[in-house]
Amino acid sequence: MFYISLGLCLGSSNSLAQMSGHTYTSQDIEIGSRAYVMQCALCHGPDGGWVDGINLAIGQFRTVVTDDDLIRVISEGIGGGRMPAFDLSPADLQGLIAFIRTGFEPEGVSVRLGDAASGQKLFEGKGECSECHRVNGHGPRTAPDLSDIGLIRTPGALQRSLLDPASALLPINRPVTIVTRNKETITGRRLNEDTYTVQLIDSKERLRSLAKSDLISYEVSETPTHEPTTLSGDEVADLVAYLLAQRGLL
Ligand code: HEC
Ligand code: HEC
Repeated sequence: MFYISLGLCLGSSNSLAQMSGHTYTSQDIEIGSRAYVMQCALCHGPDGGWVDGINLAIGQFRTVVTDDDLIRVISEGIGGGRMPAFDLSPADLQGLIAFIRTGFEPEGVSVRLGDAASGQKLFEGKGECSECHRVNGHGPRTAPDLSDIGLIRTPGALQRSLLDPASALLPINRPVTIVTRNKETITGRRLNEDTYTVQLIDSKERLRSLAKSDLISYEVSETPTHEPTTLSGDEVADLVAYLLAQRGLL
């Protein structure tokens, strides 16, 4: 099994399997986002993490596993009245599920989740992802380590990294080319930078910290490393499910 809910359900069923094969449309997500702000944000907070032990944005629940559980909790309330019952329209309910299941996807794009096990095969095989990315201690460090990517990115952002990498580009994690005063040329990936220094992983996977005053040139690439993927929609959905299962817990 790839996914362990952060909550109590270490058993056989899990929320990722529940999401598997679902498509949550941008329209549902948008409706859900509005319903969330009106009805839920007061207690659960804008980022879903205000109630102790629960984080709605990353699928951390106490008892909820399935979409039906979610619907039950929302319509019946829970915690002896600490969360009241809500009488919502079917559209709002469906929207809330989509919004929660897609990790509060802010862009409101449609997100599709496939099968995590197939995603793993693609990651290590045909997709060639593991030639650059490290997961749970295996693979190179030249590209971002994806071991806990499912915790720090929404499903929508993961999907975007594959379909439209240019729009998913982060200012950090950029490939850099540096020439030092003693004429060493260093290529690598920027991890951090402040006024005086830059930290990077070089092409030999060494962690380097360089004083900017020692550099003759310092170029940060603004072009994404990924081309938009040529994998099929089904394959992308499988990969997103696999990435989402990476929550730093394995
Ligand atoms: C008045 C405050 C309040 C509001 C409003 C509220 N909740 Fe909650 N919610 C709570 C509390 C408190 C808990 C924890 C209950 C317990 O003790 O188990 C909770 C628990 C949950 C859980 C986890 C249940 C579990 O056992 O896994 C979900 C899911 C949830 N809320 C969704 C929602 C949604 C969606 C909305 C908006 C329709 C909402 N809540 C509105 C207070 C609230
Ligand atoms: C040639 C090396 C390479 C290959 C192959 C590769 N990636 Fe990447 N990937 C990168 C680099 C480098 C970045 C950092 C952003 C950039 O430079 O574009 C990145 C970024 C990402 C991100 C965003 C990470 C974040 O922090 O948001 C995801 C997700 C991702 N890749 C997934 C994949 C998947 C899935 C595959 C296989 C289909 C794949 N990558 C194949 C090099 C690679």
